[in-house]
Amino acid sequence: MKVQSLQINNFRNYKNLSLTFDDKVNVFIGKNAQGKTNLLESIFYCCLGKSFKTTKDKDLILWGEEKSKILLTVNKKYRDVKVEINLSTLRKKSISLDDFPIKRIAELIGEVNVVFFSPQELKLVKESPEERRKFMDIDLCQNNKRYFYQLSRYEKILANRNKLLKFSKTIESVKETIEIWDRALVAAAKFLATERAKFVEQIAPYSQKAHHFISGGKENLRLKYKCGCGVSLDEKFEENMDKLLKKNLEKDYKLGHTTIGVHRDDIDIFLNDVEVKNFGSQGQQRTVALSLKLAELENMFNLNGEYPILLLDDVFSELDVERQSRLLKFVGRTQTFITCTDEKKIDGTLFSIVDGTVVKKEEKKIKNNSCKVRKNRLQ
Ligand SMILES: Nc1ncnc2c1ncn2[C@@H]1O[C@H](COP(=O)(O)OP(=O)(O)O)[C@@H](O)[C@H]1O
Ligand SMILES: [Mg+2]
Repeated sequence: MKVQSLQINNFRNYKNLSLTFDDKVNVFIGKNAQGKTNLLESIFYCCLGKSFKTTKDKDLILWGEEKSKILLTVNKKYRDVKVEINLSTLRKKSISLDDFPIKRIAELIGEVNVVFFSPQELKLVKESPEERRKFMDIDLCQNNKRYFYQLSRYEKILANRNKLLKFSKTIESVKETIEIWDRALVAAAKFLATERAKFVEQIAPYSQKAHHFISGGKENLRLKYKCGCGVSLDEKFEENMDKLLKKNLEKDYKLGHTTIGVHRDDIDIFLNDVEVKNFGSQGQQRTVALSLKLAELENMFNLNGEYPILLLDDVFSELDVERQSRLLKFVGRTQTFITCTDEKKIDGTLFSIVDGTVVKKEEKKIKNNSCKVRKNRLQ
């Protein structure tokens, strides 16, 4: 997938902007607070219909304005896509695909696939399981529409079950109606757990190779999907999870929420059999988080025959020079948008950003670098 052009009006600190891009690497250079992250956010927003920074759409509109518009055109392998998003301080956002308004975000997700990485993504390794569930969900929703629907379904069932647990006066009244939620919860959980387990299994070898490649070392990176349903993922999954829900009912009633299910899932991440979350150095955690994202990229290529768009926000500030150059060899395989504060020796088109104004600077071609990119492919 290649983003061909981007037009934005009144988005974050951009009044009007119209850009065309390089098919390979686009580098945005600017001092702090000029609009580099905002630019990546506008592309990301068109891919997933949401921001990586905020859940409030109104925050995205240029201060003092009432409306904002983003228009993204993308060349895909077999067809082109045009995404238009209109935001308003007064109404809900509206999204059009190829000039046809869509009703549900599910229609947008998967049209233009994206992988985003920034220093904050360290949270993927370091912070709560919620971050790793989000990682699995964003990837799986982009590749599998059914996953998106089953996930929304699961969340609704869980919310209803929790409401019943929290607001029922007696446990007897819970028992009368909970069966219907349990049956639905168990079925959706089975689908989601199966897909998540498959996803972790698929990205594990890629993340291992990416980690070797970026770190230049031989540490063994291992991923393990940890299902929060408390039962094995086999043909008796539904029956066993149902039994466990019943066994935990009294506890769940006291707590007012459901204590088992895929909303408790996690991915255990090990380097040489040591858990990275608790024992890895900051540098190891950072390389692991980046490796997971690069693995996602390779996995999407494997599934769709097409690489997603790669957004790298300010990643160089956190990597040593050697790792920077290894990452650069890696990124040449897909269209990449990189932001940084100073000029780097990068094979790509340079843009400078000053206070919401973007100027395309020059096209740099470092031929030797391009050759190395091909030689260093993971597959
Ligand atoms: N809705 C908005 N309207 C106008 N300016 C905004 C809005 N949201 C954020 N900004 C401003 O955009 C500027 C640039 O942000 P950002 O893209 O994160 O900078 P950087 O170049 O460091 O990545 C910040 O100064 C911020 O205050
Ligand atoms: Mg930034």
